[in-house]
Amino acid sequence: MSHTKPISQVAVIGTGVIGASWAALFLAKGLDVVATDVAPNAEASLREFVLAAWPALERLGLAPGASPLRLVFTPDLAEAVKDAELVQENGPERLDFKQKLYGQLDSLLPPNAIIASSSSGLPLSQIQLGATSHPERCVIGHPFNPPHLMPLVEIVGGAKTSEETIRRADEFYTSIGKKTVRINKEMPGHVANRLQAALAREVYYLVAEDVLSAADVDTALTYGPGLRWGIMGNMMLNHLGGGPGGIEHFFKQFTGPMTASWKSLGSPELTPDVQKKLIDSVHAEVGSRNIEELEAERDELLLGLLELRANVA
Ligand SMILES: NC(=O)c1ccc[n+]([C@@H]2O[C@H](COP(=O)([O-])OP(=O)(O)OC[C@H]3O[C@@H](n4cnc5c(N)ncnc54)[C@H](O)[C@@H]3O)[C@@H](O)[C@H]2O)c1
Repeated sequence: MSHTKPISQVAVIGTGVIGASWAALFLAKGLDVVATDVAPNAEASLREFVLAAWPALERLGLAPGASPLRLVFTPDLAEAVKDAELVQENGPERLDFKQKLYGQLDSLLPPNAIIASSSSGLPLSQIQLGATSHPERCVIGHPFNPPHLMPLVEIVGGAKTSEETIRRADEFYTSIGKKTVRINKEMPGHVANRLQAALAREVYYLVAEDVLSAADVDTALTYGPGLRWGIMGNMMLNHLGGGPGGIEHFFKQFTGPMTASWKSLGSPELTPDVQKKLIDSVHAEVGSRNIEELEAERDELLLGLLELRANVA
């Protein structure tokens, strides 16, 4: 248990897809948020996003005193991070951009302020080279889109990150209701996206080979393993798959067939023709529904699942 004061002042840098969603979540958790972005219409888009997200956040439960009015926007970086105890950085996914920004942040912030990057793929060991004075306070806090709804945050340090920073970041995200995983070694794409990538490769292969349509592969996932994965992960399900003998029996029984089946997994080449086949198949699945309708469908079910999880936790 930490004896440091809980983080209450956060700065959000970059208010695009991910930054706006983080800002909405931080506000819903009763934090004071100062946001900054260089895009000309950034403030209006951010405020619009927060208001649109608020009913869902209300449904999931607001912290006492939470309000969209506790959002301050400034186009000035120094002003934005003036009182920040934690900066959530969501700028463009470019190493040169992030290194330069981390240099600026390093000189603007006191040493105990955390700089957390949402980066999906850049290694923190590279990013933190920009923060020459205090690289130890840099960490990856990688969310799943949209962060205001999806609980997962992957936490990973770089070569120069201190254990204290990782611990404080973990405590912070946990305190605002996120489900964290601490990744012990830097991996390209962290972990959750690698899991998705392994599956996506086989999905594209099966559709490209005319084994089944996009609609059918999606049905197979969402009404089959996907439904269980929202409840328990691969490892725990393996334990149950072994019956009363648990995981030990699972490996005794399935190691042979399972590893043999790995050899038949596909690795499709996404040529323009293959892409066209995948795209046509997705449009057949989508039918007349537009993106907004599909997003609403996804978010309604997601909220229901999150509420169920909160009620049974
Ligand atoms: N989109 C996703 O699904 C997703 C998921 C998880 C993590 N991420 C990560 O989040 C980060 C942001 O991705 P995104 O999808 O929100 O990108 P985005 O393009 O939607 O947003 C980036 C924002 O940064 C702003 N920006 C550019 N220069 C800036 C500066 N100097 N100061 C302040 N703001 C500046 C841009 O105006 C833009 O609004 C990336 O590192 C990405 O890897 C993205």
